[in-house]
Amino acid sequence: MATIDESREELIAKTAASQRISGERAEILNSGLAANLEMPHPVFIERGAGGYVYDADENEYIDTSVGFGLHMLGHVHPEIEEAIEKRTRLGWMFGIHSTSQMKLANLLHEGSPCAERVVFCNTGSEATMYAFRAARGFSGRDKIALFDGFYHGAHDYGMWMTDPSSSRKAPDVLPMGHGIPGALKDLTLLLPYRNRAAFDLIREHKDELALVFVEGVQSSNPQNNLGGFLGELREVCRECGVLFGIDEVITGFRVAYGGAQERFGVQPDIATYGKVVGGGLPVGAITGRADVMEVFTGLGANRGVFSGGTFSGNPLTMEAGAAALGHLKAHPEIYVDLEAKGARLADSVNGFCEENQIPAQMKQVGSMFHMFFQNGEINSMRDVVSLGSAAEKGFYLHCLNRGVLVPGTQRAFLCAAHSEADVDKLIEVFCGSLKDLQSEGLF
Ligand SMILES: Cc1ncc(COP(=O)(O)O)c(C=O)c1O
Repeated sequence: MATIDESREELIAKTAASQRISGERAEILNSGLAANLEMPHPVFIERGAGGYVYDADENEYIDTSVGFGLHMLGHVHPEIEEAIEKRTRLGWMFGIHSTSQMKLANLLHEGSPCAERVVFCNTGSEATMYAFRAARGFSGRDKIALFDGFYHGAHDYGMWMTDPSSSRKAPDVLPMGHGIPGALKDLTLLLPYRNRAAFDLIREHKDELALVFVEGVQSSNPQNNLGGFLGELREVCRECGVLFGIDEVITGFRVAYGGAQERFGVQPDIATYGKVVGGGLPVGAITGRADVMEVFTGLGANRGVFSGGTFSGNPLTMEAGAAALGHLKAHPEIYVDLEAKGARLADSVNGFCEENQIPAQMKQVGSMFHMFFQNGEINSMRDVVSLGSAAEKGFYLHCLNRGVLVPGTQRAFLCAAHSEADVDKLIEVFCGSLKDLQSEGLF
């Protein structure tokens, strides 16, 4: 049994090198990234290997962040390492097309069910920004419909969150922080997630809507039984003549090789990718129906939209991504294995919470999982009241001190390098930490 204060003290004592780096960094580096824990200093990671990371003091952690979800095969996978090394010997950046691009384009074309065409960019945020632009260019309309609880990246068109005082059936948005132009507010229609009222709103606004856009699985709220909702959404968009897009930045090549599209049997008009597709290097991609994607070529009678970027489709990323997707394609058993490990993890933690009357739960879809520190039904993020609670912060601190890194963004993942013994340790650490929080009176 340990209290949160005891865990914090132990962690501070064993992370002296991180403390030193933190002091140096504070002088020169304004990081926009949220610190993952309530600690006097962040823990700085020096290296990764398989399913583990090691900090500046050589403390080992089971890594459930895996680069915010992108290392599907774990850190420094030998095939990806070899592909990167080979490309660096040949030159890693040319600007114009390289022979590496078609390798990844072919894998995406084949692996993304809606991909008649592919466009590369550098991040998931760029991919969603371009998808919005393509939909606007194609349809001649400006409004994009998004779902409460969404995250589609850091550009101004996606930096909106649900106004908690607004109606559940017709939610309103607030800007996510300062610096987001108020003039953009009317370009977003917020829809209630997993709620049939969304279909009525789409029908009502169909003449203004360029795109209805949804995450394959909301990483803030991973739910398994989405097929019916996504399927109906697809049909309503078709009926209304509005483009339907799935954001596969997290789910692509993760919840199935063919992403959420394959897992839930739904085919959008356009899909966006990032993360796993780059094999650990920065990447974004947009795939979709040929007639929609044609807007990127500029050939479609004045409907051309701009996409570009110095690093888009760079050969180093293309090779790393092709090695990752090539390996995943050749090893479909990885998905079966991760499915079973993810279910075992969630069933064990949820069973423990029930037995011990701990008001916490794990939501899990395949290898994605998310802890919530409350019990009862969670249908959408509107039902989540425990974000930022003392129990949540204490949980991450206990886990880190016991050798498990859970990202402070709450979105956690298993990867192919995590063994059954790692899952055993995750269960032990998660359940032990929850029990300690309960004993300390934090629930
Ligand atoms: C669903 C989704 N879309 C887009 C993004 C943005 O991707 P990036 O961080 O590569 O810009 C993210 C990032 O986590 C995401 O989860």
